[in-house]
Amino acid sequence: MDIKTLVSKLTLEEKAGLCSGADFWHTKAVERLGIPASMVSDGPHGLRKQVEEAGHLGTNGSIPAVCFPAASATAASFDRELICRMGEAIGDSCQHEKLSVVLGPAVNIKRSPLCGRNFEYFSEDPFLTGKMAAAFIHGVQSRNVGTSIKHFAANSQEHRRMSSSSEVDERTLREIYLPAFETAVKEEQPWTVMCSYNRLNGVYASENPWLLTEVLRKEWGFEGYVVSDWGAVSDRVAGVAAGLDLEMPASGGFNDRKIVEAVRAGKLDERLVDQAVERILNIVFRYVENAKPDTPWDKEAQHRLAAEIAADCMVLLKNEDELLPLRREDEIAFIGEFAAKPRFQGGGSSHINCFRTTGALEAAEGLKIRYAQGYSAAQDRATDEQIAEAVAAARAAKAAVVFAGLPDVYESEGYDRAHMRMPDCQNRLIEAVAAVNPNTVVVLHNGSPVEMPWLDRVKAVLEAYLGGQAVGPATVRVLFGEVNPSGRLPESFPKKLEDNPSYLFYGGEGNTAEYREGIFVGYRYYDRKGTELLFPFGHGLSYTSFDFSKLRLSAGRITDRDSLTATVTVTNTGKRAGKTVVQLYVGDCESSVFRPVRELKGFEKVSLQPGESKDLSFTLDKRAFAYWNTQIHDWHVESGEFRIEIGRSSRDIAVVEKVYVQSTVELPRHYDKDSIFMDILDDPRAVSALKPLLDTLREVFLPAGGEQADASQEAISDEMGLAMLHYMPLRSLLSFAGEKVDPAMLEQILAALNS
Ligand code: BGC
Repeated sequence: MDIKTLVSKLTLEEKAGLCSGADFWHTKAVERLGIPASMVSDGPHGLRKQVEEAGHLGTNGSIPAVCFPAASATAASFDRELICRMGEAIGDSCQHEKLSVVLGPAVNIKRSPLCGRNFEYFSEDPFLTGKMAAAFIHGVQSRNVGTSIKHFAANSQEHRRMSSSSEVDERTLREIYLPAFETAVKEEQPWTVMCSYNRLNGVYASENPWLLTEVLRKEWGFEGYVVSDWGAVSDRVAGVAAGLDLEMPASGGFNDRKIVEAVRAGKLDERLVDQAVERILNIVFRYVENAKPDTPWDKEAQHRLAAEIAADCMVLLKNEDELLPLRREDEIAFIGEFAAKPRFQGGGSSHINCFRTTGALEAAEGLKIRYAQGYSAAQDRATDEQIAEAVAAARAAKAAVVFAGLPDVYESEGYDRAHMRMPDCQNRLIEAVAAVNPNTVVVLHNGSPVEMPWLDRVKAVLEAYLGGQAVGPATVRVLFGEVNPSGRLPESFPKKLEDNPSYLFYGGEGNTAEYREGIFVGYRYYDRKGTELLFPFGHGLSYTSFDFSKLRLSAGRITDRDSLTATVTVTNTGKRAGKTVVQLYVGDCESSVFRPVRELKGFEKVSLQPGESKDLSFTLDKRAFAYWNTQIHDWHVESGEFRIEIGRSSRDIAVVEKVYVQSTVELPRHYDKDSIFMDILDDPRAVSALKPLLDTLREVFLPAGGEQADASQEAISDEMGLAMLHYMPLRSLLSFAGEKVDPAMLEQILAALNS
């Protein structure tokens, strides 16, 4: 299809019309030219295809579908191949349901445990988020169905989500909030990008030319269309000019008319409208030309896949005395309503109408299980009778498993949590059960960290996150050892909310949310501070043990144009087969800018039989060592030594090697009269330019003395003198050097320094 020719045949009104939806979920058709409508659907962890009354917050019904684990869980798998398979399955369902685009993945950074949508987001870490998003996109798009990576950008809170301005400095944006989008765009070219509701540094994302055009298209090379989040458009004409192609949902023709008027009034270049239409139609036809509506959608098979994925996402946080796995022949108490009716997905636009849900109780059929409800999640209450019944069940059992976590109202799209606590009634229940049964296990269903006041009194904790509709069988398989847990925390669990770096200003004041902690998000902050955590980023136990050894680097010294290969040997030293996640962190040993102690730059999941060893290799390029330099507005590596660390978590580093990286980029330097000597003397070129002046400088600033007579032969090196000199600006020569330096001479010095 020659899209450009097609666009040239459209009237201005038709073109403007194509720039918004026909209804909640369809793009518009233009029948006279054979342009079809196309349908999109939420996402991200399954289909929420609405056929009748539409409602974007999950308020109206949608077709029965399969709910896979939410991103909070899939991130914990640290398994690209697994999430790619999930994407393939969702892509198949889209083909079956004639959907051109699934609205996901959602890659906003988990800045605070409080964000209501954390369950839908992957991680506090941009590298992990980007790689998992890319794997998902790869899977979906391998089926010739598009994705819509969202919400672009810096949309890490729900509070005032449609008006708040995320105030984020340049370096923080580049290092924390943009890289996941960047990785996905550069590696997988998502068919569409969804801009977020919020403003970014004062400008709505939906009309932000820097974000939508400069960065997304010019820098990263994005080729698809940008769609607004549902209702994110404020000024439609500014949006077209900025690079927002498709407004969703329909705007009743109001904004389309504004586009027409703006073009007619000479306020908007018609070529920008053409461009938006071309981008939209490219994708519409890409889908149409590859549509395979006869693709089968085997929901049963996907239910099984959902269980397999969920099991590999679970994170064993604690396992004292190797209480887990449980033995099938033992009497076990399953306590808590979530055992029967698990919480496995969150509220809002990602809410799926599951064709089936299997809880742990149902999945444990045939085992010796005694169930007690313990609490009511909907009422958020535990009666004395419920607790008594639970205690009785626990007392009679070999081990007690309490299924707990956050009820629906605690976390959802649309609003943020007010605290990080679990329901009081559930905390009480856990304490009561643990008091009578020393073998108490807690299984958690939540999308984000919770406080665990009872942690010392239970022997095991299994974090299931929001594990999708088949979370029940997955949990039972892990609890009873059929699956060896291999998930790792994609976020740090602080002991209390107050420890989180955004605690003092999260949510913002009025419509301004300042991201004041800057780059120090998650473990980047906790590790720098040495904060004691409940569980660190990357943590997760197994029923076997692994040894990481023999870290080899391909070179001891490289330049920032080279790449480095790090190879490590991983051995299963225990008695069971299992998977582990090898995490590679890079840390700058010494830096002139503030940097985290370490940052994740590689990860790999590997499956090993008992006694088996494998070598894993990671390739690191410039980006692995670089920080965003705001002077050159680019990634920059500061020459020096870097630690390459292989760890089990950000707090459990097993092996370390060092590499020296030499920068090939010289940062531009400019001096003026306010430049201080410390900076000048740090620059060898400036020092040589100053050489003729050194005598004068010594006479002025250093105590007189014969022993320094030959000072002009060398750069200033006397430590004390230098320390005194360090913070003096060049202009102080005028104040302290008397006649020796006059303004004309200062100009000459500056000219020499800047030459
Ligand atoms: C959400 C998006 C979603 C859209 C359509 C919005 O409220 O922020 O994530 O894709 O609705 O349902």
